[in-house]
Amino acid sequence: MKHLISLQNWSPEEIREVLNLAKQVKEQPQAYQDAMHRKTLLMIFEKPSLRTRLSFEAGMTQMGGNAIYYHTGNSPMGSGKESISDSIRAASRFVDVVMARLFKHEDLLEMARFATVPVINALTDHSHPCQILADLQAIEEKRGSLAGLKLAYLGDGCNNVTHSLMFGGSKLGMHVSVGSPAGAEFSPRADIVADCERFASESGGSVAVTDDPAAAVADADVVYTDSWMSYHIPREQMEARVEKFRPYQVNSALMAQAKADAIFMNCLPAMRGYEQTAEVIDGPQSIVFDQAENRLHAQKAVILTLCGAV
Ligand code: CP
Ligand code: NVA
Repeated sequence: MKHLISLQNWSPEEIREVLNLAKQVKEQPQAYQDAMHRKTLLMIFEKPSLRTRLSFEAGMTQMGGNAIYYHTGNSPMGSGKESISDSIRAASRFVDVVMARLFKHEDLLEMARFATVPVINALTDHSHPCQILADLQAIEEKRGSLAGLKLAYLGDGCNNVTHSLMFGGSKLGMHVSVGSPAGAEFSPRADIVADCERFASESGGSVAVTDDPAAAVADADVVYTDSWMSYHIPREQMEARVEKFRPYQVNSALMAQAKADAIFMNCLPAMRGYEQTAEVIDGPQSIVFDQAENRLHAQKAVILTLCGAV
């Protein structure tokens, strides 16, 4: 059974194949309008979502199938009355593919272990691979290639999106540079940095982590940021985090240190005046809605691939 748990355990060739399919799906959506005819996707959510829910659901509808939205807040699984293993074994008897947005990555691994249908990571505390497939598709559309480009990520380094950018970028020969405050609480996980250094050495890319935002962004082709207040962060931490991350805000001064034609990205949701200024996210270098749109195309490609529908 093949799953999408993390780009960490997908080969560069597998990532490339999905990106190629995502391009085809975007160019010719009608060619796939019956590819998931009468198939059902189960969407398990422990956290909120706009893009992930809508793009998966619309994607299944557009391919002739159906999606079930299931929030664990009102479920035996969420209340602890039923184990993850029993829940997913039962669910696997009803549906053809599952996506899950969970707090703990270990819970997703448990799901994948017991599921008898493919399982897709729709965001955990470890990673957010669907987002990064869409992002890589968007970068390639704007730049024509991925290998050799410098992607600078600014802000919360100990973060699912950061980790997935590092996995995807390092596997495809990009130079990923993370600018985040010093300390384990704000930096990419050390084991993930080590893995990505290995992937980069095989692909001709590189991975760097610094607490100097100017060094991180210098000469970058892509400048990327994500929320300082990810869904799982308690609101009472906001003031301290804003103080900590403020030097990493992507504003016009920081953008000016990247390449003149650098693109700006944010997986969204975004807060203007926090991780980036309004003039950057609403300015001419921003491609945030193109990357959001690609969630639809990239996830269709993931579903088709995992379900053997192509
Ligand atoms: N980028 C992203 O995953 O957005 P949602 O939280 O709205 O799904
Ligand atoms: N890092 C963010 C991503 C949101 C799509 C979070 O986990 O909330």
